[in-house]
Amino acid sequence: MKALVIGASGFVGEYLMAAGHSRGHAVVGTFTAKAETHLEFLDATDADAVHDLIVRTSPDWVFMTAANPHVDLCETDPAATRPINVDAVESVALSCAEVGSRLMFFSTDYVFDGSNGPYDEHAEPNPLCEYGRQKLEAEELVRSILPDHHVVSRINVVYGWERHGKNFFVRLLRNLRFGESATIPDDQYSTPTYVGDIAEMAWDLAEARANGIYHLAGPDFIDRCEFSKRIAAAFECDPSLIKATSTAELGQAAARPLLGGLVSRRVEEMSMHEPRSVKSALELLYDQESILAGS
Ligand SMILES: NC(=O)c1ccc[n+]([C@@H]2O[C@H](COP(=O)([O-])OP(=O)(O)OC[C@H]3O[C@@H](n4cnc5c(N)ncnc54)[C@H](OP(=O)(O)O)[C@@H]3O)[C@@H](O)[C@H]2O)c1
Repeated sequence: MKALVIGASGFVGEYLMAAGHSRGHAVVGTFTAKAETHLEFLDATDADAVHDLIVRTSPDWVFMTAANPHVDLCETDPAATRPINVDAVESVALSCAEVGSRLMFFSTDYVFDGSNGPYDEHAEPNPLCEYGRQKLEAEELVRSILPDHHVVSRINVVYGWERHGKNFFVRLLRNLRFGESATIPDDQYSTPTYVGDIAEMAWDLAEARANGIYHLAGPDFIDRCEFSKRIAAAFECDPSLIKATSTAELGQAAARPLLGGLVSRRVEEMSMHEPRSVKSALELLYDQESILAGS
């Protein structure tokens, strides 16, 4: 099948590209600031450019991972993030409708208020912060423009090796290896998910021509501090460098859902690729690093 990954220079986009190629699909990807020779430039806030690219490539599926996912920036300057988080998603959906492409839009557990997670696909969204509100508005646009040709993939706390090294796992590990302490909230619960599993589940959904909302998440419901301790243990770092705090103590601009996280109810029913536990994903990441170090 032909696919277009908008945001292929990002973390999830990079793994979507790799998984699509390894399944034999023809995948075109885009970047904006982080230039890559194998990717095409696209500023998705330019509606004409979006339209031209989707018409020219005429993909069976468009994967829309492009976003500004900086939660506190969304809160303090929503006008800066809305063009990519909401308006661009609408442009992509409208062009998909014109060309007959299906659209997979990547959203978040921040559409929920965190009062009683983890959440399955039937749970009622109630975002606490602007990032969650922008993502929910984009979800609603996708569902109304492409009622029978969309997947909303909600994901949370994605981790794995990353070229640009900014996900929580990579940053924490870097700190611990430099012997620096890390202050982590112990009251934010989520279902951390290995990025490679998200890519495989997304392609399973695309190949099955799925439609609707799907939660793509790992099986462990744990708080951020516990996740950090498991990372430290798996990579033989000093766990005493991890200092527990509360979300309130951090004083971040945007409110976080505390009991967040996702249950992949619909994926479980479809007997698709199964996401790894944190334990098994950390073992995989450890082995991947050893192989890279030895090569
Ligand atoms: N990672 C997580 O833990 C997580 C959790 C929940 C939800 N999500 C959602 O999952 C999606 C992917 O997340 P991610 O971690 O892969 O994000 P990321 O690494 O920050 O990647 C974002 C991508 O968006 C692109 N982008 C930014 N502005 C753009 C623009 N104006 N036009 C076109 N592309 C633009 C970036 O391109 P350049 O870098 O080249 O500028 C990059 O490829 C996002 O929608 C995010 O909201 C992620």
